[in-house]
Amino acid sequence: MKIFNYGSINIDHIYQVPHLVAPGETISSTAYQQVLGGKGANQSIALAKAGAVVKHIGRCNKADQWALEQMRQAGVDCELTQLVDQPSGHAIIQVDAQAENSIILFGGANQSFSTDDFKHALSSAEAGDYLLLQNECNDIEQMINIALERQLKVVFNPSPMISNIATFAIDKIAVLVVNEIEISQLLGRSFNSTQQIVTAVRKHYSNIEVIVTLGAKGAMWINSEECIEVAAHKVEVVDTTAAGDTFLGFLLAAIAQGQSYKSALAIGCKASALAVQSMGASSSIPSMAQVSAS
Ligand code: RIB
Repeated sequence: MKIFNYGSINIDHIYQVPHLVAPGETISSTAYQQVLGGKGANQSIALAKAGAVVKHIGRCNKADQWALEQMRQAGVDCELTQLVDQPSGHAIIQVDAQAENSIILFGGANQSFSTDDFKHALSSAEAGDYLLLQNECNDIEQMINIALERQLKVVFNPSPMISNIATFAIDKIAVLVVNEIEISQLLGRSFNSTQQIVTAVRKHYSNIEVIVTLGAKGAMWINSEECIEVAAHKVEVVDTTAAGDTFLGFLLAAIAQGQSYKSALAIGCKASALAVQSMGASSSIPSMAQVSAS
């Protein structure tokens, strides 16, 4: 069983700042680093480090071949990843003293796929393989529909969230992975408790598996019969960038290996607890050995 990931590759410019810059304000950063990021690339790297076979469908600029090299070194199959003339996607990330962040995205090459390119990339996919998507590449709704027609198991992480995602064929996918804010935006309402989230998810998405990440509280797996919760590890948080991507990668690798929901959630929480303890996106994703030892 293969995992295809139609996902972004970003060059992340990370600025450590005393506080997130306010409108009209100019501030100096105290540290800067440029690293490989993008929800897609981060998730592929986390999947590969967790032992999954992952084929990344993505694009970046020819000058950024180093980004592909880093993905390959982590174990990602980049045969379906192309170097193109368009500028690479990038992210401007501020991280403040409390480990809060804010991110501006530029889509670039991540937004340049046609549905034909996508169908071609999926030509070796077989029914039952997984297709993972986030929302940093173009035409996500069409790509989900193409994957569903091919009987792929679609795993969707609708991040960053936009309003029309609620109209996508989410009830036909296999697994939805969202945080508390995203599920609230998706269902168009706020929640006062996790029990309210569980009830609403069961009402709207009764046929699919839904994983809701709860930040410092952990994560829960919801379907029509069960709700399994795993608590987050208590650690010193330095930077939460890519923590969700790390969680998802380790979680999905465990699902694809046939592990129980509880152990998939547990390994995702362990891995993301390690990721938040260091700065950066892909650079903060731990190895399987580090996760096992934690
Ligand atoms: O999820 C973290 C990622 O979001 C960063 O690496 C950045 O590129 C943005 O896509």
